Amino acid sequence: MGQVIDLGDFGDGFRRDPHPVYARLRERGPVHRVRLPAPDQYHETWLIVGYEEARAALADPRLSKDGSRIGVTFLDEELIGKYLLVADPPQHTRLRGLITRAFTMRRVEELRPRIQEITDRLLDEMLPHGRADLVDALAYPLPITVICELLGVPEMDRTQFRKLSTEVVAPTSAQSEYDAFVRLAEYLTELIDDKRCAGPSGDLLGDLIRTTAEDGDRLSPRELRGMAFVLLIAGHETTVNLIANTVLALLEHPGQLAALRADMTLLDGAIEETLRYEGPVENATYRFAAEPLEIAGTPIAHGDTVLIGLSAADRDPARCPDPDRFDIRRDNRGHLAFGHGIHYCLGAPLARLEARTAVRSLLDRAPALTLDGPPGDWLPGMLMRGVRSLPVRW
Ligand code: HEM
Repeated sequence: MGQVIDLGDFGDGFRRDPHPVYARLRERGPVHRVRLPAPDQYHETWLIVGYEEARAALADPRLSKDGSRIGVTFLDEELIGKYLLVADPPQHTRLRGLITRAFTMRRVEELRPRIQEITDRLLDEMLPHGRADLVDALAYPLPITVICELLGVPEMDRTQFRKLSTEVVAPTSAQSEYDAFVRLAEYLTELIDDKRCAGPSGDLLGDLIRTTAEDGDRLSPRELRGMAFVLLIAGHETTVNLIANTVLALLEHPGQLAALRADMTLLDGAIEETLRYEGPVENATYRFAAEPLEIAGTPIAHGDTVLIGLSAADRDPARCPDPDRFDIRRDNRGHLAFGHGIHYCLGAPLARLEARTAVRSLLDRAPALTLDGPPGDWLPGMLMRGVRSLPVRW
């Protein structure tokens, strides 16, 4: 095994801006053995930083998501249940089929007016103040409200839920991650029980519960909990960062912002460029070598963990010329921000719809929008890329 690169050696700067480190790694090769900085639970892993290798790895069936294939049970699976991101075919195929049937494009399209309404209400509340933390005022409440309404999650303690779910995707310590999983599992169990008792509700979770009832054991209670978990967490923790990262990138690149304001048909390009340039998911969820394999000539042993660098791949100059330049007119097709292969993001259309609505409405209604000081801390851990707060004024 070659040299192990300790990412902790790059200090806090690595969290603030990991791209120069990824660039140096890419220059040396597409695959590296790295030691992760605290608080990640796997101390050593393979990290793929080249675009072609990352794309191929995302679709490689030898890289498994199911820990049982290498004799491991993950914390989330143990406490929550089986869900899409910890399953391989044929289990994954079955779960994905069930949710795809319930979570249709039509269902997303039907949400369009409601997404606009929620955005308008949030902006009505925010704009009279003259300044705000955009994460608190818009980027967070929009996706959490949408996903809760879609799933049929009744009034709940949003502040509490936010803490738990952020802890799960960007843990501050192993113990608080564990506690967050336990409390989320309890919360979801109660939610599903309540819904089961309440009868047909017309929402996504209600549909999924009834699919279980009609089809016998097709979606077990634990699988149902896993599905609710992945939809609730993936459904908002990522989109909040897409909205905030887009606004931040635009405010930091006034020329690009001016071009967008002058021609709002560039909006889709601005969102896609943010996905490439500062995508909300920095590294895909862990995969494991279910058998020995080679990636770009590097041998990966059975059972080794592999982290696929989506942010690193999307700034690979072999794929994207001048990759550190934020350019909303760029042809971005093929970026990996939503993954690739069988685990490709189920919520991509919803995330795009929410981000376009939020950014368009914000720019329309706050023509003098500007940064109001430096953004807050970047999220800890290697999974998410986003800031805790984004002070703006207008
Ligand atoms: C900008 C927002 C989003 C980004 C960047 C994003 C990114 C991703 C990525 C990279 C994956 C693949 C992970 C891997 O292969 O390890 C994924 C999977 C997934 N995403 Fe998203 N996501 C976003 C929004 C959403 C939303 C809004 C939902 C739900 C409503 C959602 C639901 C899911 C689910 C269920 C999976 C697992 C799919 C599977 O394993 O088959 N995501 N997402």
